[in-house]
Amino acid sequence: MRKALDKTQRGWWKQAVFYQIYPKSFQDTDGDGLGDLAGILQHLDYLETLGIDGIWLSPVFASPQADNGYDISDYCAIDPLFGSMEDMETLIREAKKRGISIIMDLVLNHSSDEHFWFREALKSRDNPYHDYYVWRDGDGITPPNDMRATFGGSAWTFVPHLGQYYFHQFAVKQPDLNWENESLRRELYRAIRFWVDKGVEGFRLDVIDQIAKEPDRKITANGPRLHEYLRELSREAFREEGLVTVGETWSANVPRAQVFSAPDGSEMSMVFQFEHICLDQKPGGEKWDVMPLELPKLKECFCRWQQGLHETGWNSLFFDNHDLPRIVSRWGDDGEYRELSAKMLATMLHGMQGTPYIYQGEELGMTNIRLPIEQYDDLEIKNLYRERVEQGYDPQDVMESIWKRGRDNARTPMQWSGDKNAGFTQGTPWLPVNPNYETINAQAALKDPDSVFYYYQKLISLRKTYPVFRDGDFRLLCPEDSRVFAYTRESGCRHMLVACNFTKESAAFSVPEACRDGRVLISNYPQGDMEQLRPYEAKILYWET
Ligand code: GLC
Repeated sequence: MRKALDKTQRGWWKQAVFYQIYPKSFQDTDGDGLGDLAGILQHLDYLETLGIDGIWLSPVFASPQADNGYDISDYCAIDPLFGSMEDMETLIREAKKRGISIIMDLVLNHSSDEHFWFREALKSRDNPYHDYYVWRDGDGITPPNDMRATFGGSAWTFVPHLGQYYFHQFAVKQPDLNWENESLRRELYRAIRFWVDKGVEGFRLDVIDQIAKEPDRKITANGPRLHEYLRELSREAFREEGLVTVGETWSANVPRAQVFSAPDGSEMSMVFQFEHICLDQKPGGEKWDVMPLELPKLKECFCRWQQGLHETGWNSLFFDNHDLPRIVSRWGDDGEYRELSAKMLATMLHGMQGTPYIYQGEELGMTNIRLPIEQYDDLEIKNLYRERVEQGYDPQDVMESIWKRGRDNARTPMQWSGDKNAGFTQGTPWLPVNPNYETINAQAALKDPDSVFYYYQKLISLRKTYPVFRDGDFRLLCPEDSRVFAYTRESGCRHMLVACNFTKESAAFSVPEACRDGRVLISNYPQGDMEQLRPYEAKILYWET
């Protein structure tokens, strides 16, 4: 049933569906409460059944784990927490046998402060590695400027014996790398080639739009030399046509994404843009400052991206990842309509042009969690709580924000079965398992032909069967309607219509005349009248002319 893609074909990833694994929370096999590479190996058959073509593996490199591996201390070593180099080689080989590519997650903007380079850099100003990082002289009282780090506090940390501050856009333990230094760039390319030689077929590039920072001008994203660096990176490190690259670019707008993902492949295959995912954030606020989603805004946003990158770039399609809350809890309904709304959201997204990314557990309709503050692990959550409570916010309000937006919502262990700890570990899980695992788990989903899992499986297989998913243009229907998200796709004589009710109430939808003879490719309800969409109903119609 599964159609493996021919990865020698140029642009194979346009037809692919990727699955993100957050290794720490996927499957533990040695009882330490943390997921490992052997655990991923155990579930390759599950992923093959789902039908995905590649795994985006969150970082498994050597790391002190200050930010769960996004703080790398050796780019060419596997962290013993996750296993050995041999485990990694086995995983690459076994995945490939099943038509699944491994895409590694490269953090090239910063390293860990425990990386050899940084330890050397700390030794003296004239150490050859000193210039691999970004330094400014200072007195330890007044930082070079007032830039803030993403995870709280100043973006500058003082090193008394050097009389200098180093720059870090993220945590203190994540010093920014200085891309102006050519030897540093060469070292990074060598590390990438090391993994390509091992059979890795692509990379996700963490906060890649921030590498060309210029702190003196307070520039973080989209620095003047960004495209120069990206082109060099692509030329030097991603030479093979078949490699897929996806950049994490929070700053991307349509024109920028057209350059990042230009069809000539000069920079990257595609980027993650986050505009849609920020639409329920209060203007001028931070991600913690939540407001209700207005559907017409979401539609306008997706429409602009779909039309903007059609034939001039390439979209990635996602709702969830390890930094975001679970979509079913966010824009669906994680109570009565959990399964219906999870399927509806998947339909809306997977009907579009681009490469879909499924985050582990999304295919089960896994939900957010509410924990007391002491039980969270994420440094971002902890820093936020401390800072906001110090600033006088009501602790209860801060918790509400964390429950809605905290990154640990997505990081709770994968729910494999109704057994102890959801079958994730025999030990004590590093982060609590969501108590709803007794009903929401992979074992139950695999037994239920109507599960969210099989719905995703079907969506993935449709994408491979009907070229209009890959090629079709995009036309938004009823842009002002606040309940129904509907659009058509068209490529030559092939057409499809996607219609989704985003609410708990039934919603009227006037089916365009041209679609009336379409046949249903997929729906989350048995037959029914399309003019009146039931709660969270979703349908895709297909026809040829
Ligand atoms: C990216 C990662 C996130 C990490 C940050 C710093 O946004 O997705 O998890 O904390 O970069 O590396």
